[in-house]
Amino acid sequence: EMLEKGGFEHFMLKEIYEQPRSIKDCMRGRIYPEEGKVQLGGIKDYADKLKNIDRIIIVACGTSWHAGLVGEYLIEEYARIPVEVEYASEFRYRNPIITEKDIVIAISQSGETADTMAAIEMAKEKGATIFGVCNVVGASIPRITHAGVYTHAGPEIGVASTKAFTAQVTVLTLMAFYMAQQKGTISSSKLRELLTELDCIPEKIQDALKSNELIKTISAKFKDSSNCLFLGRGYGFPVALEGALKLKEISYIHAEGYPAAEMKHGPIALIDEEMPVIFIATKNSSYEKVISNIQEVKARKGVVIAIVTEGDVEVKRMADYCIEIPESQEAFLPLLATIPLQLLSYHIAVMRGCNVDQPRNLAKSVTVE
Ligand code: G6P
Repeated sequence: EMLEKGGFEHFMLKEIYEQPRSIKDCMRGRIYPEEGKVQLGGIKDYADKLKNIDRIIIVACGTSWHAGLVGEYLIEEYARIPVEVEYASEFRYRNPIITEKDIVIAISQSGETADTMAAIEMAKEKGATIFGVCNVVGASIPRITHAGVYTHAGPEIGVASTKAFTAQVTVLTLMAFYMAQQKGTISSSKLRELLTELDCIPEKIQDALKSNELIKTISAKFKDSSNCLFLGRGYGFPVALEGALKLKEISYIHAEGYPAAEMKHGPIALIDEEMPVIFIATKNSSYEKVISNIQEVKARKGVVIAIVTEGDVEVKRMADYCIEIPESQEAFLPLLATIPLQLLSYHIAVMRGCNVDQPRNLAKSVTVE
C-alpha cells in the first residue's frame, strides 16, 4: 500500500500533490494557446447546437456540485448562456421545467452517483441533451449521456475529492471557452490570452504547494477548533464552500462556507475570539469588498486566515495568518485557491488523528438514494 501511495502518508496527500500533473493531463490535446483555440472531441458533434441554446442546467452532488457552481460563473461570463446549478437529489423530485432546447451537464467523479443518474434519466426523457463530466472512464453515467468530456485525473482513492475537483473545474473552464468560441462571445485574442495563462496553471499549482510547511504550522494552531467559517466572493465563493466541505468531511470540525457579504445576515453572530475565519482574499474584482469583510471580522475579534495573492500587503496588515498563491486571471482563481484549503483540511485532520482517506460515515460514491 505504501507503494501505491507513492511515498506519501495518505492517498489524499498524494492526490493533492498530483494536481499539477492531473490538470496537465486534463488539458492535453484540448487547448491550443498560440491559435487561441479549444478542442473538445467529446462534444464536437454538438458544436452547432451550442450556438443556439437558451439555457444550461448543471446537476451534481457534493464536491461535484461545487465544481458546477464554478462552471456557472465561467459559462455565464464567457459564453453568455444562462446556467442553473442543481443538486441532483432536489432536481429529480421537484418537477423542473426541462425542454429539448436545454443542455444538462452532469458532473460526477465516479460516474455512479444514484441521484445524478436519476436526474439524467429524467432530463433525457424530457428531451434534453445530456453532457457528462466524469472521471471514471466507462462508468454508468458516461454510458447514459449523449456526449461528454472526461476529466482524466486518474484514479482518486481518498474519499474526500481533491484532484478530481480541480480537474472538473478545468473541464468546465474548457467547456465555457469552447461554448464562447462557438457562440462568438469571446475574441480570439482574449481566448489566446486566457489559454496561455491556463497553460501555466499546473506550474502555479506547484508553487502553491510550496506553502505546505506554513499551512502545517497554521493547522497546528487551529486543530482544536470546533467551528470554522470560510468566506469568499465571486469565484471565491464556491472555493469557500468546497473548503468548508473538505474540512468537515475529514476533520469533523463543523465548518460553513458562505458568500462573504452574506456573513452579516447570519454567521456574523457566531464570530468571537474562538472562531477561525478563512477568507479567499486574492487580488481580483472583489478585493476591496473582501477587505471590508475582513475588517468586520477583526472588529469582532475573530481570527483571520487569508488566502492572498503573492506580494499582497494590505490583507497582510489585517489578517492573523496569510497563505500566498500565485497571481492569475480571476477565472482561474478556484484552481489555485483550492490548493491551500485542501492542505489545511488535510493537516488539521491528521493532527486530530482522523482517518483522512476513509472518513467515518462517508463513501467514495453514493450508489443508493
Ligand atoms: C460522495 C463523495 C464526494 C463526492 C460526491 C459526489 O459524497 O464522498 O467526494 O463529491 O459523492 O460523487 P460523484 O462521484 O458523483 O462526483
